[in-house]
Amino acid sequence: MKGIVLAGGSGTRLHPTTRVTSKQLLPVFDKPMVYYPISTLMAAGIRDVLVISAPDALRALRALLGDGARLGMRFAYAEQRRPRGIAEALLIGEEHIAGRSSALVLGDNLFHGPGFPDLLRGAAASVDGCVLFGSKVADPERYGVGEVDPSGRLVSIEEKPELPKSDYAVTGLYLYDADAVEIARGLRPSARGELEITDVNRAYLDRGKARLVTLDSDVMWIDAGTEESLLEASGYAAAFAREHGRRIACLEEVALRMGFIDAEACYGLGVEMKDSPYGRYVMDAARHWNGTQQR
Ligand code: DAU
Repeated sequence: MKGIVLAGGSGTRLHPTTRVTSKQLLPVFDKPMVYYPISTLMAAGIRDVLVISAPDALRALRALLGDGARLGMRFAYAEQRRPRGIAEALLIGEEHIAGRSSALVLGDNLFHGPGFPDLLRGAAASVDGCVLFGSKVADPERYGVGEVDPSGRLVSIEEKPELPKSDYAVTGLYLYDADAVEIARGLRPSARGELEITDVNRAYLDRGKARLVTLDSDVMWIDAGTEESLLEASGYAAAFAREHGRRIACLEEVALRMGFIDAEACYGLGVEMKDSPYGRYVMDAARHWNGTQQR
């Protein structure tokens, strides 16, 4: 399965902070925001990731992440000149996807929870159609909303409805089979001039091939695109580190646990950042690794 991180957009909701830098490079506690969605893809076992962003931001993202080899990953980059919709990522990523299944994640979406990596790997193992992840929220009208019937079957998806049919926000992580590119190619721009991801998902629903996996309350999902949710995300990551002694979305540690790199390579990556608590954490993770811990 191929991965795509969509990390573009104009970031106007966070002005002036994002006037000269991209939202996805802003710190969430101890690391840039984009680490979180990348760690989600890595936890799904995905090693081949296309990062899509606006030209300026793409240069910075490339400088930050490189070609991924040091993490046992492959990062490629592609420009989205203007934010023409989330579904455009599937068209920009057509060559990268190369007729395979894909996982698309938004660069400002954070997922974390004890059972989440296993849930994700299970869902990614056999995608027939599309798999969406629903999270219960207090303000569903701000999101794509998925309605499920009593048997748990997805029956409707609406983008930012005035009268939401459920409390389940469709999160910014989408697993697709090989048909997604063809579906995206057939889309018409919405009233706001964008290729809507909700329209892709609805096309799958119409074919009877969309599934909504609802996330348990112990799985944290944050769309860090507003000043409040950005602060909430940092607070969550900091509190988790304080309470559990574990840093979430530490790419070096995830790469180690997933078997993408060995402890020696991980230690070396930590040494390069040894002046920061994050770097020392990476060194510790490598030092204590015995190859048998859970992912
Ligand atoms: O976070 C989950 C929500 O994300 C879903 O529930 C909605 O169904 C989905 O439409 C989306 O809603 P948002 O209001 O968050 O979409 P927004 O336009 O803010 O874009 C989300 C992220 O994707 C944001 O970080 C910017 C990036 N983006 C967006 C567009 C439209 C791009 O990189 N390129 C684009 O063309």
